[in-house]
Amino acid sequence: MISSTRKVILTCSGRGTLGVARNMAWWSHLEMAPLDPIVGLTELFKEDSNPQKTNLGVGAYRDENGKPWVLPSVKTAEKKVMDAQLDKEYLGIVGDQEFNKLSIKLALGADNPALERTTTVQALSGTGALRVSANFLKKFNPKAIWLPVPSWGNHTPIFGHAGLEVKGYRYYNEKTIGLDVSGMLDAISKIPEGDTILLHPSAHNPTGVDPSKEEWQQIEEVVAARKLFPLFDMAYQGFASGDIDRDAFPVRHFVEKGHSVALTQSYSKNMGLYGLRVGALSFVCESAEEAKRVESQVKIIIRPMYSMPPSHGVRIAKTIMSDPSLRSEWTGDVKTMANRIIGMRHALVDGLKKQGSSRDWSHITNQIGMFCFTGLNPDQVLKMREDYSIYMTKDGRVSVAGLTPKNVEYVAQALHNVSK
Ligand code: LMR
Repeated sequence: MISSTRKVILTCSGRGTLGVARNMAWWSHLEMAPLDPIVGLTELFKEDSNPQKTNLGVGAYRDENGKPWVLPSVKTAEKKVMDAQLDKEYLGIVGDQEFNKLSIKLALGADNPALERTTTVQALSGTGALRVSANFLKKFNPKAIWLPVPSWGNHTPIFGHAGLEVKGYRYYNEKTIGLDVSGMLDAISKIPEGDTILLHPSAHNPTGVDPSKEEWQQIEEVVAARKLFPLFDMAYQGFASGDIDRDAFPVRHFVEKGHSVALTQSYSKNMGLYGLRVGALSFVCESAEEAKRVESQVKIIIRPMYSMPPSHGVRIAKTIMSDPSLRSEWTGDVKTMANRIIGMRHALVDGLKKQGSSRDWSHITNQIGMFCFTGLNPDQVLKMREDYSIYMTKDGRVSVAGLTPKNVEYVAQALHNVSK
């Protein structure tokens, strides 16, 4: 049945229709929502007319000219995909099964015996994988999820919107701008049994501060003792050390120690497939049979959310992962990105010294991955933006990938001026 108001709209024409529609103030009570703390910076950056403006906000790799970089291995793989002229059929709820197998092998290692008790579904990059995991947890382990403090800005809304209680465990030491490992172990040892703990296996976002191998071993022991469910958010495999296997150590270690874990993977950074939304969600279970049951429930969550994932990006990713020569070209590309970022960390510290800064900036080179936690406070961050048009997140995080030989001196000068 059509309501009387809708009838008016349907039967009126021209000005009359518009007039009626305008009077239907469905959303007049809505307040303007704040900009996203990370993605919103790009919106502000685009509006800035300062020719020296520099975007160190969102974590997206840039080449030495400050331009987005399509990896050569990705270009080759994409050409192969296009040449194959594949159909555009639905992939099914779990996505591309071959990609899923390759993805979990990349994380756990191709010979890992745990592979047979694992289920992997394709996901809309890291965020999509996390959101599906959040809904799964809400349904089947509706206890609190614990995030490191600080954590990626989107973690809290992802789990919060799914209806989970989000709590924080100590991770970072403001004084040393490094890891507070004893504080972390102590905090984890007090988390109630059965809760979920989110861990960043490599290139911690936003701090760039990672535990060492030995520290991960200690963390595993406490997580096991507390009987927590570990959820690894691996958005930067390869980005921390330039070595795909090394960066996966924490996940592999936990699995080897017998944990059932959930794992989210993103190919946005390490393959530069940002806009293609390529990712995966895996559960390493107790048995192959349990993995099947978990997968059946994950499908129930995905289907009403977005039905099925897209096909193009995963075809590129699986072409790379399944072809030995492309794969080795890709790991070379990952090293190129990791090394350029490491080089820019050193250039920034050198630039600060040249400016005459007497502060200890060694954390910039000690930190790892795409981000550097500068230690700037929100007022200094605002000054960077208002006085220099340099955009970074409010917590003082800069995306080192946005630094180039051309802008690093300008950034060093600004950093020195606001921090002296
Ligand atoms: C970031 O932290 O900047 C990236 O992970 C991009 C994003 O979606 O926030």
